[in-house]
Amino acid sequence: MILSLRRLACASSLAALMLSVPCLAAEPVVHAQGPWTDTSLAPEARADAAVAAMTQPEKLRLVFGFFSTEATWMDNEVKRFQLPKEALPFAAGYVPGVPRLGIPAQWETDAGIGVASQVTETPRLRTALPSGLAIAATWDPATAQAGGAMIGNEARLSGFNVQLAGGMNLIREPRNGRNFEYSGEDPLLAGVITGNAIKGIQSNHIISTMKHFAFNAQETNRNAIDVKISDQAARQSDLLAFQIALEIGKPGSVMCAYNRINGAYSCENDWLLNQVLKQDWNFKGYVMSDWGGTHSTIPAANNGLDQQSGWAFDKSPYFHAALGEAVNNGHVSRSRLDDMARRVLWAMFANGVVDTPVAGDQSVSIDQAAHAQTTQAAAEKSLVLLKNDGLLPLSAKARRIVMIGGHADFGVLSGGGSSQVFTAGSQRFDEPLGKAMFYPSSPLKALASRTQAIVSYHDGKDAAAAAKAARNADIVIVFATQWTAEGMDTPDLHLPGGQNDLIRTVAKANRKTVVVLQTGGPVVMPWLNQVGAVISAWYPGTSGGEAIARVLVGEVNPSGRLPVTFPAGVDQLPRPVIDGDPKLDKADDPHPHTDYDIEGAAVGYKWFDKKGLTPLFPFGYGLSYTRFATSGLTAAADGKGVKVSVTVTNTGKSTGATVTQVYVSPPEGAGWESPKRLGTFARTELRPGESKSLSMTIDPRLLAIFNSATKTWTVKPGAYRVTTQDSATEATATSTVMLDQQTLDVRGQ
Ligand code: BGC
Repeated sequence: MILSLRRLACASSLAALMLSVPCLAAEPVVHAQGPWTDTSLAPEARADAAVAAMTQPEKLRLVFGFFSTEATWMDNEVKRFQLPKEALPFAAGYVPGVPRLGIPAQWETDAGIGVASQVTETPRLRTALPSGLAIAATWDPATAQAGGAMIGNEARLSGFNVQLAGGMNLIREPRNGRNFEYSGEDPLLAGVITGNAIKGIQSNHIISTMKHFAFNAQETNRNAIDVKISDQAARQSDLLAFQIALEIGKPGSVMCAYNRINGAYSCENDWLLNQVLKQDWNFKGYVMSDWGGTHSTIPAANNGLDQQSGWAFDKSPYFHAALGEAVNNGHVSRSRLDDMARRVLWAMFANGVVDTPVAGDQSVSIDQAAHAQTTQAAAEKSLVLLKNDGLLPLSAKARRIVMIGGHADFGVLSGGGSSQVFTAGSQRFDEPLGKAMFYPSSPLKALASRTQAIVSYHDGKDAAAAAKAARNADIVIVFATQWTAEGMDTPDLHLPGGQNDLIRTVAKANRKTVVVLQTGGPVVMPWLNQVGAVISAWYPGTSGGEAIARVLVGEVNPSGRLPVTFPAGVDQLPRPVIDGDPKLDKADDPHPHTDYDIEGAAVGYKWFDKKGLTPLFPFGYGLSYTRFATSGLTAAADGKGVKVSVTVTNTGKSTGATVTQVYVSPPEGAGWESPKRLGTFARTELRPGESKSLSMTIDPRLLAIFNSATKTWTVKPGAYRVTTQDSATEATATSTVMLDQQTLDVRGQ
């Protein structure tokens, strides 16, 4: 949540009495002694011991969170409170600790791209990674982990010990304004990338969330919309992505989403929280609500919510005095309150939050130079070359290069909302969909320092004037932007504000036009046949301008692959019109519906495959300045999964990286949601002429269907086709493997 601010007085006595949300004073953490301080004990035992030593009010403190920013809309009798002194300003959340027992507070910050600030004149200035979708476009777990480690380090040095990261709702809706925060449309890719990002964050002895659990795939009516989806389709799609990320990243916390699922709000959904997450997946950490996602005391507590976040966003402080009363009168059992507190404590002990406490603001010791390199390296791997008629890399012979639009003279675009990272020197410019923040990493300057050519800039506001400037250039580079943000969906898949006309007009004047896209997700390109090259740069982060320039000149060979299908138009989507109505008033508690059973688990390329649709660019697509070949593909049964061996060779003239994508198709009648699934993948760097042998395994869940009645995964017997592919639509080699019938438990074992 992002809101405007105003400092408030402490709750007046009447309001304070009415709500009994007290003004907490800062209390020093003491060096308490007890079994929970014994680092040789398992986190479970330490959490048990700490819970046993706690009073009921102390347990209640752990499950009730404040918004750590004082906002004007809280200045009324219900919401009025004073932030505890030790809370950090302009941050997302704060949960007091239990100083008597040496349990520190939880200082929470957004999000997955870096350490964010709420809107203020004096934000924290931190490093921004490329968007989550860009990280997914690297198809590189190591890049995701390094990025996570970087933002976790900045969080710790900023005084935060809970990072509200791990955004990974599968892209079911390419117009979703938050797609840039997520990891694409495929459960394996999204799970692996997000899981590794979480692992990196938590390597700093802080907690990361994964969010928004689950099916929060659109922003339109996000607080109310009721998603219909069957258990089987859910387990084979979004839930599988979360399950994989949980196994890899082991997040201490899961943030439940705003929307309803099959009737019940995510944050009081027994099926989602108690059955799937806690029972089936054995999640030991705690479920925190999204800000404004708690709707009750008793149903929420009994159906699996462990902590109310940023309570002022909700109608009431449900997990404060009301929860104490519900425990005292038996509507919520004492053991359930213990379980809630134990889960919070388990996550703190398991991640080192108690043993390696954060020490306030130490941001002067952030290694800015090293972090600039980390974000730049990630951006360089994330850029996807979508088209190249030979314009790229730019010829050293070019004498006049004209750059047009997108504030390329100043910097690169970022996405808006609670994940917004502020960086030194960033500026907001009016974009068609809102006031967008640009980071001061100028592609113009970065390119000018790498070429003998004269590089000039035209702002592109007047298409005819831009075309005139472009006419005699050796190369024209149009920077096209689509700002997206939390709280909104894009009206369609077109670049907004006349940019399609600008590109057409410029390309007509000079066909040697390269388009660099900075978008939240997929867009359509009605001018594609008229231009010579297209690069998707997503939102490339604080060093994005350098990364773009290095790819343009060929210092870096593009190696990103699309983590999401680029449709040819909205008519190809399961829902050509987004369900719900942006005008519905949240206060009236509307109940709009959307039906995810239309596509079920056939999300993204699986839907396109199933329906025989041809996208503009398929999932997995991306070109390079060199060429690669695959040879010697074999597939063999291996335990319950499949082992795949293949050799990749760089057959071109420059060093580069390729992503080997292995897809699987089932035997007839296997009951899959779609003709094929991504089974495994690997990114490999190769010098010219170099070969590498890869050995990869396919998780048996990706060969199976989920049986909701028995809670098992079943691999049907028969011949499975295994293909290596350059994208979801281009096979390079095929092999067949015979599999016996297999049954796996709910965790895929
Ligand atoms: C967002 C979350 C975020 C929270 C705290 C909510 O609006 O949906 O992703 O972590 O605010 O800022």
